[in-house]
Amino acid sequence: MKQTTRKKTLWLAVLCALFVPVVIFSYPGSPPPPSARTGGFGESTCTECHFGTALNAGGGSVSISVPDGYSSDVTYTISVTVSDPTAQRWGFELSSRTQDGRQAGTLSAGSDGFTQLIPSVGGIQYIAHTLAGTRPGTRNSVTFSFNWRAPDTSSGPVVFNAAGNAANNNNTQSGDHIYNTEVTVAPAAASGPAPAVNDLGTVNNASFTPGSTPLAPGTIAAVFGANLNDGSSNAFSSLDDDGKLLTTLGGASVTLNGIAAPIFSSFSSQLNIQIPFELSGSSTASLVVTLSGQNSAAQTVPIGPSSPGIFTIPPGGTGQGAIQIANTTIFAAPTNSISGAQSRPAAAGEIVTIYCTGLGDVTNPPGTGKLASGDPLSTTVATPQVNIGGIPAAVSFSGLAPGFVGLYQINAQVPAGVATGSAVPVVINIDGAQSNTVNLAVGSQ
Ligand code: HEC
Repeated sequence: MKQTTRKKTLWLAVLCALFVPVVIFSYPGSPPPPSARTGGFGESTCTECHFGTALNAGGGSVSISVPDGYSSDVTYTISVTVSDPTAQRWGFELSSRTQDGRQAGTLSAGSDGFTQLIPSVGGIQYIAHTLAGTRPGTRNSVTFSFNWRAPDTSSGPVVFNAAGNAANNNNTQSGDHIYNTEVTVAPAAASGPAPAVNDLGTVNNASFTPGSTPLAPGTIAAVFGANLNDGSSNAFSSLDDDGKLLTTLGGASVTLNGIAAPIFSSFSSQLNIQIPFELSGSSTASLVVTLSGQNSAAQTVPIGPSSPGIFTIPPGGTGQGAIQIANTTIFAAPTNSISGAQSRPAAAGEIVTIYCTGLGDVTNPPGTGKLASGDPLSTTVATPQVNIGGIPAAVSFSGLAPGFVGLYQINAQVPAGVATGSAVPVVINIDGAQSNTVNLAVGSQ
C-alpha cells in the first residue's frame, strides 16, 4: 500500500518535471500536506507518505492548545506544537469538527506566515504549515498558531484533530516522525444570570411607543431587559465580511422566530436591533436573547406592515426631531440649540429630510443588516402622508437612507402658510400607522 503510493508520487514528480517544472520550483522541498490527513474521523495521517517510525513512536509528540471552553462566535488563537528531540523540519495539519463530523467554526491562518488553509474536503477545513512554517534547521520543537472562530455553542463539543511531521530536513518522505492527537472542547459553562427581556420590552427605537404596537420588518428597535449582554458597553457595531451588521455584540445575540437580528448597539439593559425583513407577512415573532449559551424566556413581539417612528434629539421619541434642511447637515431647529451640530429654522417652501424608521417594505430591499444603496435607491412601497404644523406637506422622497442600515428618510416640503415657531409639530402616517409627533423649527426667512 505504502509502496504503491510512493511509486505514484514518484511518477507524478517525473511527469511534473517534464511538463510543468514551475510547480516543482514553487514548492522546493515541501509542499503543504494534502488535505484530510489529520488521523481523525477515519482519516489517514502523514504516514501515508512519510515514514521513519510507526505513528507516534518517534520519541516526540504533537499537542493542541485550545481554550478550556468556547463561547459562540468568539475568535480564539489555537496552537499546535510539534516536538521531537531529533527533528529539524516541521509540518502539521488540523481540523475542527462537531462530534458527528461536520465543520465546527471557522479556521484562518495566523499572521506570521507559518500557517495556511489548504483545500477543504467535503466541507471540512484544513489548516497546515506553509513552506516558511517548516522552519528548516529548527531543533526540538515548533509551534504553529492560527485563529479559530467558534461556532454557536449549540454545536456542542468540538473535536480538534492534528497530525504533525517532525522531519529530518532531507527533502524526502523518509526518516520522518509522524504524530497525531485529538482534543475536545465543550461550550463554556454558562456564568451569571440568564438574560431577561421585559414584557412588551421591544419598541421602535425612534418613537419608543409602547411594545404592544406592532413593529414593521426592517425597523430599528430597542430591546429592554436585564443581563442582556456580558456587561460591556458597545455604542457602535460593525459589518461582518459579508457586509452585514454583526448579529453578536457584547456576547449577546437576538433571534426573532429563529432569525438572527443585526445588532446596532449592546448594553446590559438595552440591545438595539433591526427587525429582520424575513418577518414580512408575520403578525407576531418570538424574540429570544442568548448570552453565553443561556436563553432568555421568549417574548412575543407584534409585527405589522408599518411602524413609523421619527428619531429625536436627544433620543426618546418627543421634542426636537432628527430633521435636517435637505442636502445639508443643518438641523431644522432653533439656531445653536443642538450642541456639536449646526441648526437653524426651516423656511416655508424649503425641503427638509426627516430621519425615521419602520416605514415598511421598500423597493430594492438591501437585505437584513445590509447598508441601503444609493443607486438604485430603495423607496417605500406605501406612500407616507406628512403633516407639518397641521398642514399636509408635499413628499418628494420616501425610502431608505443610503449607506445606513434600517434608517429611512422622508424629504418633504415645509408647506406655505405654516405657522412659524421653534416647536412646529411633525407627524407621519403610512400604511395605516401613525408616528410619534416631533418638532421642527420654522422661521420667516
Ligand atoms: C501524498 C503524500 C504525502 C502526504 C500524505 C504527506 N506528505 Fe509531506 N511530503 C510529501 C513529499 C512528496 C515531500 C517531499 C517534498 C519535495 O521534495 O518536494 C514531503 C515533504 C514534507 C516535509 C519536509 C520534509 C523534510 O524532511 O524536509 C514536511 C515537513 C511535510 N511533508 C509535512 C507533512 C505533514 C505534516 C503531513 C501530514 C499532515 C504530510 N506531509 C503528508 C508528500 C506527502
